[in-house]
Amino acid sequence: MSPARCIVRSSVNIDETFQVPHIVRPGETISSSQMWSRPGGKGANVAAALGLSGVPVTMLGAVGEDAPWPLDHLRKYGVAVDDVHRSKDTPTGRAFIQISSADGENSIVLLKGANFAPVPALDDPARWLESDATHLMLQNEIPLETTVAYAAYARTLKQRGASNRVCTVFNPSPMLSPEELQAFPWEGIDVLIVNEGESNDLLDALHGARKDSAAASLAALAPLQAIGWLVVTRGGSGFLAGVLVDGERVWIDMPASPPRKVVNTTGAGDTFAGYLVSGLMQAHDAREPTTKASAERILRYAGIAASMAVEVDGAMESIPSAQAVAERAAALAH
Ligand code: RIB
Repeated sequence: MSPARCIVRSSVNIDETFQVPHIVRPGETISSSQMWSRPGGKGANVAAALGLSGVPVTMLGAVGEDAPWPLDHLRKYGVAVDDVHRSKDTPTGRAFIQISSADGENSIVLLKGANFAPVPALDDPARWLESDATHLMLQNEIPLETTVAYAAYARTLKQRGASNRVCTVFNPSPMLSPEELQAFPWEGIDVLIVNEGESNDLLDALHGARKDSAAASLAALAPLQAIGWLVVTRGGSGFLAGVLVDGERVWIDMPASPPRKVVNTTGAGDTFAGYLVSGLMQAHDAREPTTKASAERILRYAGIAASMAVEVDGAMESIPSAQAVAERAAALAH
């Protein structure tokens, strides 16, 4: 079994962040007290979380020559960025973020930029998945055709029973349309992470019935039944997961680890996803089979990391190190 390495085929952004008294309402004009340019992007944030957690990770994405500096941050966090494309014609993607001083909540408008520039070398999943990759992270801030091509290739490896099959994690954010969700190659996905709103969108698109919990509703959907980990995040209320253990789905309902203060929630979901994947990678290296106890441990760590991320300003810059998460976990255990 090869040592774990995760490929993140996703986005890199610069987060143009405005501190505001509240998220602007339709038709309203408000002033921002402060503005920052920070590294971000869902893919880059997850890659940073993986790097900070101490596991090998390669970022596949694109930035513009106008502002490639988010890559300096990724490098500092231990992410391999040599294969990130630098576009001459298209600027680095931007996220225009409002942060409410009242409660740290955010609202985001995206400029696609280089994330959507065609890069033939990065859009050929065989080239990357027939390598040393053991895990693959996908989201929706890049062209859907690319995400679908990677998920479909992961499905092919699985169907072939290939020894080099990858564990594919999908966080469909921003959410796809009902038609796109219906056509998605779900058989390629091993771990699905959604928030409650995204879970409802999926249920509606795939004509599912509401069961006792959001995770149980997802597990009843035919296209999702073989997905090993179905995780529904509920912000400050924690998360629900349905995890396949020896072919049986076990249910985990975990409260949120309470943050010491709420400063900025941007990137907390990416931190959760990154630490969850890191836990899976470490279990892979230790050849540890999935049990309810191991799944609970992985989810608990991911939850602690996410709660620590909201205590600090920024998205990528708020992600805690493995040591900080371990220290918080130890403090919470006492
Ligand atoms: O999930 C948070 C991220 O979403 C931000 O860093 C921003 O770039 C947007 O993509």
